[in-house]
Amino acid sequence: MVDEYDNWAKQRSRVLTGAFLYVNHIQPKYKPVGDMKILCLPGAKGHEITKIYDVLGIKRSNIFGVEHHQESFEALRKSNLGIELYHGSLLEVLENAKSQGRSWDIISMDLKSYFTRESRYMIQLIVSDHLLGRRGTLITNFLGKREQGVHKEMLEDIFHAIKHPLVPYGVNNKPLFEMTPQGMKIAAEEPFDLKHDRSETITRIIIEAAKRGRVELDLSILAPFYKQHDVEAWVAELKEDLITRGLDFKTMAWYQFPGRNDAEKLATSYYMGQQGSFAIVDYFRDRWFPREFLHLYTYLETQCYLPRAIESEKYTSPKGAPMLTDRFFLDQFEEELNPLANFFAWDDQFELCVLPNIEGASSFFKKAYRLRPNNAIGFDLEKNQKVKIMDRRLNAQIQPILRQATKTVNRLSHISKTSKDISLDRTFIGSAASEHAEQRYSPTDLDLTDYLQELKRTGTIKTKRRKRRR
Ligand SMILES: C[S@@+](CC[C@H](N)C(=O)[O-])C[C@H]1O[C@@H](n2cnc3c(N)ncnc32)[C@H](O)[C@@H]1O
Repeated sequence: MVDEYDNWAKQRSRVLTGAFLYVNHIQPKYKPVGDMKILCLPGAKGHEITKIYDVLGIKRSNIFGVEHHQESFEALRKSNLGIELYHGSLLEVLENAKSQGRSWDIISMDLKSYFTRESRYMIQLIVSDHLLGRRGTLITNFLGKREQGVHKEMLEDIFHAIKHPLVPYGVNNKPLFEMTPQGMKIAAEEPFDLKHDRSETITRIIIEAAKRGRVELDLSILAPFYKQHDVEAWVAELKEDLITRGLDFKTMAWYQFPGRNDAEKLATSYYMGQQGSFAIVDYFRDRWFPREFLHLYTYLETQCYLPRAIESEKYTSPKGAPMLTDRFFLDQFEEELNPLANFFAWDDQFELCVLPNIEGASSFFKKAYRLRPNNAIGFDLEKNQKVKIMDRRLNAQIQPILRQATKTVNRLSHISKTSKDISLDRTFIGSAASEHAEQRYSPTDLDLTDYLQELKRTGTIKTKRRKRRR
C-alpha cells in the first residue's frame, strides 16, 4: 500500500511549513523555542515530529500528539518519540482544552478529510477559546474534494457571506457600515463553483473566524446590545418563548449548529447570519460614535487574532487526492490593546460609556456619564470632525488617549484589511504520483535543515551578523 505521508510532495509541504514557522514565529524570538508548545496529528510514523519540529529545536516533551485511529495510535506509541500522546479525537481535545487550562503556540491540523462543519467548529474553538494564547501559528490541511450535503452547502453559504461587502455607506449622513443594495445584488448573483472557489473559501473562512475571535462561540459579547445581563437567562428566555409559541427549539436552524451548549449554538447562528454584527454596528451608529470606537470596542471585546502572515499551497497525494494547506501566523496585538483595556464600560442602563476610569473622576461613572455621546461626543460629517468634548478639563485628559486609540485602531484595521487583499493563489507543489514533477526539486528543497541553510545563504532569511571580537 502506498504510504500517503511518505512521499516527496508531502515532504516538500512539511519543509515549507518548517520554513514558515522559522521565519515568522521562531526567528523573531517572541519566546524561546525551547518553551514552545505544539498540538498536532503526527500520524502513525510521526514524520511531522522528526522532519519539522526536531529540526526547529522544539522539545519533544512539549509536543502533544493526537491520534484517533487504533492501529496508527499503537504504531505511534511503540515508536517512543517521547511526546505526550492522546488516543482520541482532535475535537475532544479542543473542546476540553480551555477548561483544562491548555493552549499551544502551534496547532497543526493535518487532517485527511475535506472541510466539514466539524472542521469549522474546531477552528471556532481555537479562536474563541484562545487556544493559541496571545499569538500562535495555525496550520491546516484539508482534502480538496468530495464535500457533500451540509458541508458543501456550508462552503457555498460562507462563500456568499464573505463576498457580501460590508462597506462604509452613508445613510442619512451616518458614517458607519451598511450593506449597500448594490453589494447585496452582486452577492446574490455571484456564482459559486466549488472547484474554482473551494481553496480560497476555506482560507477566508479561517481568516474571518480568527478575526472574530471570542465572539465566534461567546454570546456574552452580544448580550448588552440586546439589553441582556446574563447569557443563561437570555437563552432560557428565548427557548421559553419558542415553547410558548408551540415551537420545538430542537428543530430550529440555530440548534443544528455545533457548540458545547445552547448559548454557543446561538452565538454561531447570530454571527453566521450577520445579525450579531449588525446589532453592534447599529448601536454605535445610532449613537453617533466615531467609527474608531466601534473597531476599538470589537478588538478589545473579541480579543481576536489578526494575521501577521498567511501562506497557502496545494499538492496532490500519491492517490491523486488534492490537498489544501494553509498557514496562518496570528496575533492578538496585546501590547497595543492592553493600555486601552478600560476605555469602555457599560452602565446599568445598557449605555456604553467611554473612558469611565479617567483620572480624577470622583465616582466610577460620574465622569463617564458626562462623556455620553449625546452630550459630549459628536460626529460632524461636513467638517469631518470626529470628536467634540464639551468639558475643557476633561478634554485635556482625554485627547492623548483618544489619539492613542485612533492610532492603534488604524494600525490594526490596516492589518485586518490587508488580509482581505492578500492574493490567495496557491502555489502548486506538484503531484506525488508524477515522477516528472519531483525533478523540479533538489534534495535541498526536500530537507528542512538544508533548506533553511540555503535560505540563510542566499539572504532570504536574514541572519544576525556576529560581532567581531577584538
Ligand atoms: C494526514 S495524517 C498526519 C500526517 C503527519 N502530520 C505527517 O506529516 O506525516 C493525519 C493523522 O491524523 C489522524 N486523524 C485524522 N483526523 C483526526 C481527528 N479528527 N482526530 C484524531 N486523529 C485524527 C489520522 O488517523 C492520521 O493518522
